[in-house]
Amino acid sequence: MTTPIAIEGLRQVRLGLLSRRDLLSRLTGTVVEIGSGAGRNLPDLPASVDWIGTEPNRRLRTTLAAAARERGLRPPLAARAEALPVETGSADVVLSVVVLCSVDDVDAGLREARRVRRTGPVSCAPASTPT
Ligand SMILES: C[S@@+](CC[C@H](N)C(=O)[O-])C[C@H]1O[C@@H](n2cnc3c(N)ncnc32)[C@H](O)[C@@H]1O
Repeated sequence: MTTPIAIEGLRQVRLGLLSRRDLLSRLTGTVVEIGSGAGRNLPDLPASVDWIGTEPNRRLRTTLAAAARERGLRPPLAARAEALPVETGSADVVLSVVVLCSVDDVDAGLREARRVRRTGPVSCAPASTPT
């Protein structure tokens, strides 16, 4: 199960013992990413990860879609954290890097993150993360 690794990793990121890149490189399984932006995190995810990216901003999503296509990943979904078009219990990891600070309804966003995870807690990287 990958989620505890992500949570433990997140603690280490906060303490400055682990970089964002190292944390992402440890993820496995189905990763639902909230607010993927232009795809900064894609190069650091293992190729084996089944990535489901979401991004509400159309301009960013266009860039993200190109980055995803380059890596043979599925096209990102147009979605906000508060309403993820993702099946309940389908994610091994719910990933959110520097996103919650932009979400209007954080409670709804976290509720959605908990809904789509298969098991275990949800990991959200803080506003400032070492690369
Ligand atoms: C600072 S960027 C971070 C992008 C990416 N996660 C990264 O690590 O580079 C914040 C992102 O949150 C997205 N965002 C803003 N409001 C959102 C919402 N309600 N739900 C999901 N994403 C949102 C923005 O469109 C943007 O892509």
